[in-house]
Amino acid sequence: MKFLIIGDIVGWTGIKKLKKEYQKLKAKYEIDFTIVNGENSAHGKGIRLKEYEEIMKLGVDVITMGNHLYYRKEMAEEYIKLKNLVIPANVTNLNGNGYVIVEKRGKKIAVINLIGQASMGEIFEKNTVSPFDKVEEILRNLKSQNIDYIFVDFHAEASAEKIAMGHFLTGKVTCVFGTHTHVQTADEKILNGKTAYITDVGMTGPIDSVIGLKKEVALERFVTGKFAKYECAEENESFLNGIVVETDNQNGLPITIERLQT
Ligand SMILES: [Fe+2]
Ligand SMILES: [Fe+2]
Repeated sequence: MKFLIIGDIVGWTGIKKLKKEYQKLKAKYEIDFTIVNGENSAHGKGIRLKEYEEIMKLGVDVITMGNHLYYRKEMAEEYIKLKNLVIPANVTNLNGNGYVIVEKRGKKIAVINLIGQASMGEIFEKNTVSPFDKVEEILRNLKSQNIDYIFVDFHAEASAEKIAMGHFLTGKVTCVFGTHTHVQTADEKILNGKTAYITDVGMTGPIDSVIGLKKEVALERFVTGKFAKYECAEENESFLNGIVVETDNQNGLPITIERLQT
C-alpha cells in the first residue's frame, strides 16, 4: 500500500495548496491512504469545523493534531465527535480520540497522535503523560485487533525526543513521523528494516514566512523580545511538504520512504 503523509497545513494558504496538489499527488504516487496534520489550518492556530470539512472532503483519511489544541475554545467539545480526527493521546485535559482504526483496501490501519514533553511549553508539561508510556498502552490495546499498519504522528519540538521515539517504536509500528517544527528534515530512513522514520515532514503553506508566521511579526518578537500578535503569512507562494511510504502487503513492512516538497 502507499501512504501519503502531509505536514502541518498552515492557514488558508496551506488549505489552498493542499486542494491544488492533493489529487495530482494521489494519482502520481498511486496513494491508497492519506494522513494530514491539521493543527494550524485555522489561520495558523488550531482547526475549526470549517477546516476539518474542507480537508476531509478532499478524500483525506485521517487528520492529526498537535499543540494548537486550545485556541479554538468551541472545539474542546467537538474533537471527540469528529470522525477520523485524532488529537495527541497523551494530553490529559482534553477529550478526543488519541488514535483511530480505519479500514481501507481490506487492511486495518491505526493512526496514533502523540505530543512531546521537551520544550513544548508549560501547558504540556502539566497536562500530558509520557508519550512513551502512552504509546505502549495503545499498542497493548491494538494487539488483539489484527491491525495491519500502524502510523504514529509524534508532534514534538526536540529532534532528540523524536529520534528516541523512532528507536523506541522500531519493529512495533509501520512508521513514526515527526511534525511541529514545520521544517522538513533530510533523515528519512527505515529503521532496522522495520519502521519508516523521519524527524519532521515539514509544513504546507506560505514559503516566505517564519514557519508560516508573518515575517514582520516573527522579527518583532525575536528582535525586540516583545509580544507581537500572531498573524499567518497569507497570499504568497506556497509549498507542500510530506512523505510517501510504501509498504509490502505480504509481510506488512515498509519498503520505501520518500520525501516530498512541491
Ligand atoms: Fe504546526
Ligand atoms: Fe505544533
